[in-house]
Amino acid sequence: ANVIYHLPDGSIETVDVPTGQSVMDGSVRNNLPGIVAECGGSCSCATCHVYLDDAANALFDPPSDEEAELMEFLEGAQPNSRLSCQLIIAGHGDVHVQVADSSS
Ligand code: FES
Repeated sequence: ANVIYHLPDGSIETVDVPTGQSVMDGSVRNNLPGIVAECGGSCSCATCHVYLDDAANALFDPPSDEEAELMEFLEGAQPNSRLSCQLIIAGHGDVHVQVADSSS
């Protein structure tokens, strides 16, 4: 599926992310800014923070307890915040994500 990353500086990058990989994987693989992914995707660092719109939100499973707990302590978290390492592509169409800046 194409993931369209709306980056913190306002620019947009599109990456074809294979089924089974995460939204975080597609960003890290292409060295896109904003997603740091310190923990490598094990849902413990929260530096892969993104925001989803309703259309994107409908494409993914709801957050696990683990993810929800991490986000309670995450600065800048919104009701539509997710950890992108937990957003696994399942073959659906275009996915738009707004990338939070986790590098500062
Ligand atoms: Fe660490 Fe997602 S990469 S929580």
